[in-house]
Amino acid sequence: MRKVHVIDHPLVQHKLSLMRSKDTSTSNFRSLLSEISMLLAYEVCRDLPTTKVQIETPVAPMMAPMLDGKKTVLISVLRAGNGILDGMLKILPSARVGHIGLYRDPKTMNAVEYFFKVPDNMQDRDAIVVDPMLATGNSAVAAIDRLKATSPRSIKFVCLLTCPEGIRTFHATHPDIPIYTAAIDERLNEKSYIVPGLGDAGDRLFGTK
Ligand code: URA
Repeated sequence: MRKVHVIDHPLVQHKLSLMRSKDTSTSNFRSLLSEISMLLAYEVCRDLPTTKVQIETPVAPMMAPMLDGKKTVLISVLRAGNGILDGMLKILPSARVGHIGLYRDPKTMNAVEYFFKVPDNMQDRDAIVVDPMLATGNSAVAAIDRLKATSPRSIKFVCLLTCPEGIRTFHATHPDIPIYTAAIDERLNEKSYIVPGLGDAGDRLFGTK
């Protein structure tokens, strides 16, 4: 319970440092996020169950391990989650995809849902929720609240960066959901940005600022 996995592989850390730099272009930022996401997917999928199936190699028959059960579902928290989705789908090309759209009410600062679509048979699926920045934790908590109502077989949360405040808020409500991240930064600033962070992940990904 309350597990936080920091993926501190040198390749991940190098790519993350390039992403953090304010001089990195939109197209490089996008490519780097896709590359890091593939490496994160490798770790996140480490405990997926496999089953042995009969195949024939050119040399001999064998019982070969294959991923078991219904297809994993990747859930993107819009819009920046789509940047992680892209890389993860390269590693899990048959995964199903769901989307959760949330915006922050400017008066209450609460997360309000505007879109929710996930595949059928969620109770048989392992869900991997992706959102690059676990900052205040409010939208991640709201996304997991909503997803839990569909009763997936398991849920994991994957981000690129987080901070102590985000982890605390997230695990105060969802202590059962493991977090996978490339780094835990120092803190949140008064505008709820992660420090040192990398700025607004959505804007950097889509070139909107
Ligand atoms: N969302 C972002 O995109 N960046 C932050 O630093 C915090 C939240």
